[in-house]
Amino acid sequence: MTGSTRCLIAGNWKMNGTLQESLDFIRDLAVNPAPEHVEVALMPPFTLLHSLEKPFEEKDVRLGAQSMYCEARGAYTGSISPVMLRDAGCHYVILGHSERRDIQHESNTLIRKKMDAAWEHGLEPILCIGEHLQEREGGQTHSVLKEQLSVLEGLTGAPALTVAYEPVWAIGTGKTASVDQVKETHAFVHAELQRLGHDCRVLYGGSVNPGNAEELLACEGVDGALVGGASLKADSFMQIIEAANSAED
Ligand code: 13P
Repeated sequence: MTGSTRCLIAGNWKMNGTLQESLDFIRDLAVNPAPEHVEVALMPPFTLLHSLEKPFEEKDVRLGAQSMYCEARGAYTGSISPVMLRDAGCHYVILGHSERRDIQHESNTLIRKKMDAAWEHGLEPILCIGEHLQEREGGQTHSVLKEQLSVLEGLTGAPALTVAYEPVWAIGTGKTASVDQVKETHAFVHAELQRLGHDCRVLYGGSVNPGNAEELLACEGVDGALVGGASLKADSFMQIIEAANSAED
């Protein structure tokens, strides 16, 4: 763990979840009181944010969003602003997720604008970085991550930030990075963050599940997890939270 901040287990529901499903999930989630060493957050789709603010607060779960636009308001049809996310009770916003970079063609320039807007309006970005399989196989992992982290260049002060290393080839595939790959890559990311003046938590993401969570979370340099599929069911999400709690003991 870096610094004194608790480890973070965050669930990214992606494009999943109806109101009823989310209420069933919250009913089944028994994390109150929260485990001693773990902070828990969930990122449901935008349509559920307002409805989940209170129930999440009661369970000590922090609310986050999966994306946002970089302007506070205006003629941006279909977009959601940082002001709206704060109004809905969000603490976190995921930015730079590979699904946004790859499908919506989000560039580093746009991601940096979004990060600045998030900070301006009191949100903590979870900046996602990660290489594609071809890049890992071609020995380009470090250069790809360095380029993605370059969005943090030229920042003054130490704004609230969490980084998530999510190898793209491990997302939704059932493949996870090996313990050696995780340790080596997280060490590189922490060193690069330090060089840029940002000592912050670095989460691992990519097919984290109850079976592999303890091993991954015990790796040096892993300060939590960003969980996709396994965060959709309260039972598997709780098992990951428990694994994180034991890994921090
Ligand atoms: P999975 O856990 O489903 O692989 O998703 C990871 C992810 O992309 C979280 O942001």
